[in-house]
Amino acid sequence: MSIPLSLDFTRLEPDVTLEEILSWQDAVSECHEQLHSGTGPGSKYRGWLDPHGMIPEAEVERITQAADELRNASDVLVVVGIGGSYLGARAVIEALGGRDKERVIFAGQNISASYHKDLLDSLDGKRVAVNIVSKSGTTTEPAIAFRLLRNYLKKKRGGTLDPKLIVATTDPQEGALREMSRTEGYRTFVVPGDLGGRYSVLSAVGLLPIAYAGLDVRKMIDSAADCAKACENPDLEHNPAYLYAVIRNILYRKGKAIEILATFEPRLHYLAEWWKQLFGESEGKSGVSIFPASVEFTTDLHSMGQWIQEGRRIIFETFTDIEGGEPELRVPKDPTDADELNYLSGKTLHEVNRMAYRATSLAHREGGVPNLTLRMPRLDETTLGALLYFFEKACAISGYLLGVNPFDQPGVQLYKDYMFALLGKPGYEGLLENIEKSFESEDSNS
Ligand code: PA5
Repeated sequence: MSIPLSLDFTRLEPDVTLEEILSWQDAVSECHEQLHSGTGPGSKYRGWLDPHGMIPEAEVERITQAADELRNASDVLVVVGIGGSYLGARAVIEALGGRDKERVIFAGQNISASYHKDLLDSLDGKRVAVNIVSKSGTTTEPAIAFRLLRNYLKKKRGGTLDPKLIVATTDPQEGALREMSRTEGYRTFVVPGDLGGRYSVLSAVGLLPIAYAGLDVRKMIDSAADCAKACENPDLEHNPAYLYAVIRNILYRKGKAIEILATFEPRLHYLAEWWKQLFGESEGKSGVSIFPASVEFTTDLHSMGQWIQEGRRIIFETFTDIEGGEPELRVPKDPTDADELNYLSGKTLHEVNRMAYRATSLAHREGGVPNLTLRMPRLDETTLGALLYFFEKACAISGYLLGVNPFDQPGVQLYKDYMFALLGKPGYEGLLENIEKSFESEDSNS
C-alpha cells in the first residue's frame, strides 16, 4: 500500500544505526499485539485505529450535508473547543483552507478577555453559526466561550437563539452539552465513546469544521484508511509509523529528551500544535517521556536556530519536507542587481525554501543533532489524512514502548481542580481550604 509519506532517516548516524533500529523488532511486535488485540493500557480508546469503522459513510454524509447547510446559512462558523476538541480541525484548515479558512474562527481555547471581546466584535454584521465541541460537555474554557456566544447571538436576535445555527459535537449520552442540545434543540454529532480528544480529528469533531471550510473530508478518511493498512504491518522495517516510534525511543534512551518538529511552512503551524498535544498529552507520564517542541523555519533559524546548533545536546529533530504543489512564485531578475540577489533569479521560492531545509538538516547533524525527515509530495487532503493517522499510530506504539498509557491524561486534572476550588465551584470547598492554608504558609515563609 503506497502512502504519500516517507521517512528519511539518513541523518541519524552515528547516533542510531539501522541494525540498532531493527533490534527493537521483538519489543515492537509485543506493543503491536497489545494495541491490535486490545490488551494494552487504555485499550478502550482505540476507535481511531480503523478510520472507516470510526466514521461510517452515513455519518460522513450527515456531516457534509450539515456543513453545506451551515455554509449557506452563515458567513462564519465559530468552532468552540480546546485541546483535542479543536486542534485537529485548526491544523487541517490552516494548512489547506486557503481563503475559506477566514470563514472558520476558533474560540474557547483560552480564557483571554481581549481575545473573546475582539472575536465577538468581529462578528458584527455577519451571519454566525456555532459548532461547540466538547466530549465531556463541561470543560471550563469552551463552556465560557459558548455562553458568551449564546448571549451575544440572543441579543442580536431580540432574545432568542436560532437552534439551526448551533451544532453540538459531544458525548452520545452524557454531559451538560448533551442535555442542553436536547432542551434547546441543537443539531448534534457524536464524539465516539472509544475515542480520546487528541485522536478525534477524523471523527465529527474535526470533520464538520473541515467540511465547512470547503475541504474534501472523504479524501482525508480514505487516505487515513490507506495509511492504517500500511501501518498495520508488525514488521518494523516495512512500517513507517513503527520506525518513527522506535527511532524516538532509541534517541530518548541516549539522552535526547527533546524532540523538535521543524516545519518550513507557516501554514503547518497548527499541525505542529496538534502534534505537540498528541505526543505531549499521550506520553508525558510517569517521569519518562520525550518533550515535544516545535519550530517554524526559516523564521526560527534566526532565533532558536542558534540554540539548536550549539546548545545542550539533548535534542533531536524531525523535519517536514514538502516536495511540490507549492505556488510557482519566482525571484525576479533585477537589471542593476544592487541587492546581489541575481544568483537566485528565476528560482522559485519553494526551491529556495527546500534548499534551506537541506542546509539546516546538514548543519544541525554536524552540530550533533540527529535528525529525520517526513517527506510528502504536496500538502493536500490526501497527504494530511495519511499524516494525521501516521502520527496517531506512531504515538500509540511509541507510548507503549515507553511503558505509558498513551490514551489517558491524568495530569490534566489537578490544575482543573485547583481552578474550580479557587473560583468557588460548589463541591470544591474542602480543596479550597487546603489551598488557602498552603497560600498562608507560602506568605509566612516569604
Ligand atoms: O485530548 C484530550 O483528551 C484533551 O485535550 C481534550 O480534548 C480537552 O481537554 C477537551 O476536552 P473536552 O472535549 O471534554 O472539552
